[in-house]
Amino acid sequence: MRAFAHFFKPAQNTAFFCSFLQNMHKTPLSTLILVGMAVFFCYTLSMEIRDAKVTDVPFIHALISSYAQLDRMLFRSHADIYENLQQFKVAIDNNTPIACCALQVVWKDLAEIKSIAVDKSFAGKGIGRELVEAHLAQASDLGLIKVFTLTLEPTFFEKIGFEIIHKDKLPMKVWSDCARCSKQDHCDETAMIYSVHS
Ligand SMILES: CC(C)(COP(=O)(O)OP(=O)(O)OC[C@H]1O[C@@H](n2cnc3c(N)ncnc32)[C@H](O)[C@@H]1OP(=O)(O)O)[C@@H](O)C(=O)NCCC(=O)NCCS
Repeated sequence: MRAFAHFFKPAQNTAFFCSFLQNMHKTPLSTLILVGMAVFFCYTLSMEIRDAKVTDVPFIHALISSYAQLDRMLFRSHADIYENLQQFKVAIDNNTPIACCALQVVWKDLAEIKSIAVDKSFAGKGIGRELVEAHLAQASDLGLIKVFTLTLEPTFFEKIGFEIIHKDKLPMKVWSDCARCSKQDHCDETAMIYSVHS
């Protein structure tokens, strides 16, 4: 109890904190921490998630195609992206699009997250997560109950709270995209679902 009380001496704690701030720049490690915090802060400020515009379509098409060529996601034509543009959000860094993701409503209680792609030089910085979470918030606003995805990256979606389900649990309507997939007879995607919190 006495040890616990030690943490609650405001005068001492304030003095310690002030001296910590004053001395922070004096050691290489603390300088590194300060620079890291500044870079992270500036990066967070410069990144924005917004609804896609027609001017983003060439970027979205090129990004999706670059991964589709590697068999990591489905191709989408320019026409397909223009027709479904309202479904897309993009991440913007320094006025330049760097990632995209779409949310397609399929039924009264169900939507699909699709076409998520992050420029590989920005991978691993939390941008994919931010895009999916922005769409999950939108799904909640729309009154949807479940959001599913068919993915080759189940671990990424698991980290966001999606759970693996058997493909048979998804309604037939979901399988319309399969008609244009070269792997329709040997589908290697994992079906995953997220319960939307209203
Ligand atoms: C998969 C993809 C969208 C992830 O985007 P990202 O911005 O790199 O991911 P994030 O930084 O937001 O990662 C969020 C979490 O998922 C994890 N994660 C991301 N990609 C992962 C992968 N391929 N395998 C395992 N975990 C992964 C991260 O480590 C992070 O975990 P943490 O919260 O514990 O730190 C991106 O790598 C990509 O565009 N891949 C190519 C296209 C593709 O495969 N799209 C999916 C088609 S099904």
